[in-house]
Amino acid sequence: MKEITLNNGEKMPQLGFGVYQIPNEETAKSVYEAIKVGYRLIDTAISYHNETETGQGIKRAIDDGIVTRKELLITTKLFVNNVFNEQTAAQAIEGSLDRLGLDYIDLFLLHQPYGDIYGAYRALGKAQHNGKIKSIGVSNFDSGKLIEFAQMNDVGLPQINQIEINPWHQRVEDLDWHHKYNIQPEAWAPFAEGRNNLFTDPILSNIGAKYGKSVGQVVLRWLIQRDVVVLAKSTNPNRMLENFNIFDFELSDEDMQTIHSLDQKASAFFDHKDPKMVEWFMGRIIKDKPDMKRG
Ligand SMILES: NC(=O)c1ccc[n+]([C@@H]2O[C@H](COP(=O)([O-])OP(=O)(O)OC[C@H]3O[C@@H](n4cnc5c(N)ncnc54)[C@H](OP(=O)(O)O)[C@@H]3O)[C@@H](O)[C@H]2O)c1
Repeated sequence: MKEITLNNGEKMPQLGFGVYQIPNEETAKSVYEAIKVGYRLIDTAISYHNETETGQGIKRAIDDGIVTRKELLITTKLFVNNVFNEQTAAQAIEGSLDRLGLDYIDLFLLHQPYGDIYGAYRALGKAQHNGKIKSIGVSNFDSGKLIEFAQMNDVGLPQINQIEINPWHQRVEDLDWHHKYNIQPEAWAPFAEGRNNLFTDPILSNIGAKYGKSVGQVVLRWLIQRDVVVLAKSTNPNRMLENFNIFDFELSDEDMQTIHSLDQKASAFFDHKDPKMVEWFMGRIIKDKPDMKRG
């Protein structure tokens, strides 16, 4: 497994396993299987409502001697309803430690660019200082917001910005900005969750055929070669393994360029600055947990 060194010196596997949209009753088993396959980076979030089950899968893998806690890198994220102020964020950090059943969390992110991100980031910084979190960062920050946040916050440079990157939304200029500020980009939805028929795309299929690899493997490899940390989700053990086997081939410059031609320069999902989406996120605060509105 290739490792990336973050701007605080911590190391991180370049390929990880995400648990978004895995039903609660399948999460512990999926996490356990993924660790058995070889994944060491596991990505969850408070808003996925499966931190408890993620923690159960991790515990089982450690108890069975498959992995040690030190070998794992566990990520979770504060949702909008945790980002009213520093105190609500600090409480939420304790909640995640508790649900995951861990003494420390390797990477904790602000999930969305909304709310009191400066106060919440201060809570993450304090927990990092106290050894409860190793690395901290953000998610879904566009490059302008990221630059502003990097300069204006009083904790320090985020280690990570987790953003959508896939063949339809390649973020070429955004990656340059991340590089300039030494903030590691991490890709969510590398397959665009299969949108636009990604898994049967003829261009990606032809490239895969040359190397004896699937479309999924080509896409993950393309991200690895762009120095991005990448998260893939699958509940199917065969596809978990398929997605993991991407370190035994290298895409040629020509094939990297061909994939570049697929860029539609727009999200396959939504724009975080679209007022309708902002309104939807604000609605989630109340819909998800009315009692959490003020922490
Ligand atoms: N920060 C954020 O806002 C944010 C947003 C979204 C996601 N994420 C993180 O990023 C992770 C990955 O993103 P995602 O889960 O949204 O989407 P994704 O990884 O792009 O796509 C997952 C979908 O692709 C299928 N799949 C996986 N490997 C495949 C393969 N080799 N061949 C064919 N189908 C395959 C899976 O089905 P099966 O399970 O049936 O294999 C699943 O339906 C998430 O789990 C989460 O941890 C973060």
